[in-house]
Amino acid sequence: MTRTFVLTNHKGGVGKSTSATNIAYGLVGLLRRSGAGNCRVLLVDTDSQAHASLVTTGHKDYGADNSLYTVLMADRKEAANVLSNCLVQSTWDDDLHVLPASPMLEGAERELMGVAGAPYRLAEPLSRIASHYAAIVIDTRPSFSLMTEMGLLAATDAIVPVEPRYLETVGLLSVISKINEIREGWRHPHLHVSGILVTKMDTRVKGHKQLLDELKSHTVLGQLLCGVIPANEAVSYSHHHHLSVFNYDPKASASKAYAQMVGKLVREMTGQKASVS
Ligand SMILES: Nc1ncnc2c1ncn2[C@@H]1O[C@H](COP(=O)(O)OP(=O)(O)OP(=O)(O)O)[C@@H](O)[C@H]1O
Ligand SMILES: [Mg+2]
Repeated sequence: MTRTFVLTNHKGGVGKSTSATNIAYGLVGLLRRSGAGNCRVLLVDTDSQAHASLVTTGHKDYGADNSLYTVLMADRKEAANVLSNCLVQSTWDDDLHVLPASPMLEGAERELMGVAGAPYRLAEPLSRIASHYAAIVIDTRPSFSLMTEMGLLAATDAIVPVEPRYLETVGLLSVISKINEIREGWRHPHLHVSGILVTKMDTRVKGHKQLLDELKSHTVLGQLLCGVIPANEAVSYSHHHHLSVFNYDPKASASKAYAQMVGKLVREMTGQKASVS
């Protein structure tokens, strides 16, 4: 079964798209360097803002005929073919493929309301093409809407990015319960919370250190901490240039932290030791 990572948190601006795009790209590179036979990774953008699509493909004007919207609206029997036809090669790497979002996704939730099987309209076609990929990474919008439920129902591993701020971390347990609810309520046993990823960590800020310590010592959340990404202006510049942070500045602290995170995921996926550069 292809590992499918979904980056999710109903809070906005916590680094979901930054993490989804850089993790997807990082996986391609590390799998290739590890000599994996298949190092193709698929990035699925479920957010109508289409930030992940924009930075990885240079466009965000996908529409009725060439985006996730097209897949969701397709006849169910045709949906896997439609999905294949909508895939775009990322400008970052030939082996990074993108199912782009569209501003039209905004209306898709309303259009699909009450349609039988609507929550599975991403999971079903994705499962039919998943074996072509070493991994799939899904970016979600900042809400637990139908679109995010579709992302969770298509995933095996939920990664929750969170900023080290009090009000951000207060909602964490409810995010975890929401994911567990999808697993149990929707009978999707493959989904589990794979980790909490602290983003935009500034060690000079006392409050950030304090919150990270509190998170580490929390009985439930402490076990789930899977990485810490520093606050680093290279991230904003990389977005501006439509580059991965690794390509913008491989020596930047955020690049090193994302490389570490990707190394951990690849070790989990392959059960082997993989070197991280
Ligand atoms: N490690 C970081 N250091 C500095 N800035 C960062 C970092 N990670 C993300 N950012 C910045 O924070 C902002 C939000 O990041 P991003 O778009 O990845 O969050 P998001 O959770 O996807 O947002 P949304 O909820 O709107 O989809 C962006 O301007 C991005 O450049
Ligand atoms: Mg986003």
